[in-house]
Amino acid sequence: MLNLAVMGSGSGSNFQSLLNAVRDGRIEARVVCVLSDNADAFILERARRAGVPAYFVDASPFRTKLDGAGEARALEILRAHGADFIALAGFMRLVKAGLLRAFPGRIVNIHPSLLPAFPGLQAWRQALDYGVKVSGCTVHFVDEGTDTGPIILQRTVLVREDDTPESLHARIQEQEHIAYPLALQWIAEGRLRIVGRHVIGAPNSV
Ligand code: GRF
Repeated sequence: MLNLAVMGSGSGSNFQSLLNAVRDGRIEARVVCVLSDNADAFILERARRAGVPAYFVDASPFRTKLDGAGEARALEILRAHGADFIALAGFMRLVKAGLLRAFPGRIVNIHPSLLPAFPGLQAWRQALDYGVKVSGCTVHFVDEGTDTGPIILQRTVLVREDDTPESLHARIQEQEHIAYPLALQWIAEGRLRIVGRHVIGAPNSV
């Protein structure tokens, strides 16, 4: 059974989808704690309502990464709750060497585009501005880059002519809420293996 920690900065809809899947038995895991770098993030409120230990981690003075004292505090919380796997769910900072070393091959992220297209911020807006016809979401292992780790699963969304950034993001999120629980259950089952850039054991027919 995975002891899963979730880290996020925002609304936490992906956290909610993971929690629902755990409760329904679709992911063989426990959600042991939730961490956020944003004290007001709704993800913390969702966790509290669900009875999941929820922590604000002050990541200052850094603006875009979790490093130094903030990273040390996160590690302390993760260890205290026996976390053995981390799902980033809208976590808006880069995770650095300390966390990556403590959880080698054991951190995943969900990103709202078909990587390697449109890494970084507001990927759905980037996709719309670029004029692509298909976008989607990607679940991937986390490495030291920005949205560069080995890909586990992608789901597609057709872009409509009348899409706004909000409408496209909403349809991508529907797919995220399917993709992330699936990928985490594969991980919980021990099905996945990372070989170089490739993830072995992740079927492409979902
Ligand atoms: C999602 O679109 C996710 O792909 C991205 O940030 C957003 C988080 O949304 N990394 P939520 O907080 O899970 O609702």
